[in-house]
Amino acid sequence: MSTPSPRPLALVTGASNGIGYEIARLCALNGFDLVATGRSEKINAAAAQFIRDGANVTAVRADLAEASGVEKVWKAVEDTGRPLAVAVLNAGRSIGGAFIDTDLDDELALISLNVTSVVHLAKHVARRMAAHQAGKILITSSLSATLPTPYETVYGPSRAFTRMFALGLREELEEHGVTVTTLMPGATDSDFHARAGMNDTVFGPGMKKNSRKDVARQGFLAMMEGRAEVVGGDAATKRTAIEHRFLPETYKAARHATKAKPRSH
Ligand SMILES: NC(=O)c1ccc[n+]([C@@H]2O[C@H](COP(=O)([O-])OP(=O)(O)OC[C@H]3O[C@@H](n4cnc5c(N)ncnc54)[C@H](OP(=O)(O)O)[C@@H]3O)[C@@H](O)[C@H]2O)c1
Repeated sequence: MSTPSPRPLALVTGASNGIGYEIARLCALNGFDLVATGRSEKINAAAAQFIRDGANVTAVRADLAEASGVEKVWKAVEDTGRPLAVAVLNAGRSIGGAFIDTDLDDELALISLNVTSVVHLAKHVARRMAAHQAGKILITSSLSATLPTPYETVYGPSRAFTRMFALGLREELEEHGVTVTTLMPGATDSDFHARAGMNDTVFGPGMKKNSRKDVARQGFLAMMEGRAEVVGGDAATKRTAIEHRFLPETYKAARHATKAKPRSH
């Protein structure tokens, strides 16, 4: 019979790539075992790195836009038979383009991933952690939660939901010994914008973006400290987040459109 691992357990979604991959590495390097999830087979190579970083890893391939994918991930957590010390709900995506051109089913799937799956997984996580009177949750939102996002019209509102959901849940879970932290990255150097079909915009190749390692480190530290929110990125990104509190939504919408509108449009 194998000896149970003394390391605490962390769940990280979207751990196969980008910001989530870097957060999962930080978890591994800081003494956590992992349930690490991704949609693609890249999760297996990522898991191999987390093992080299010192973690025992359960890799799960699941589409979180489907309720069955969320249940598959949660079953993997339950099957460990261990308390969940940390949960990083990070998987997400955007869709670029004019709303009259973009595909409705694709946008409804985005809402399933960015909104529904976060609520679904958080229900399991929050109940489990509250029962143990301990735990730390990190939910990835975005700087896009602080403005309308024309030409990724559905994305910003999906992250605004995530942010307010996380802040509300934080207030509720405090009395149960559980913290909830919101990570709000500015534009970050991952595959995010390319996958959103935004290479033909200011967000495409050539834009100077925040380092995903820096964003991940800021999110991980804020979660470990139990902070409410952290803007992920450099000083200019943090200044923009402050500026957004005072600018009219219509002004911010017009400014975002200049950056997100396809050049060929
Ligand atoms: N990059 C930015 O500029 C930026 C800015 C603000 C906020 N964010 C937020 O940061 C989070 C991570 O994004 P990222 O920049 O790291 O993007 P990324 O490099 O594209 O990584 C996205 C991660 O989410 C997973 N994922 C995507 N669709 C999924 C699905 N249907 N089911 C399960 N997993 C899925 C991907 O899995 P596979 O790779 O295996 O498909 C990957 O692990 C997102 O929530 C995003 O909204 C990003």
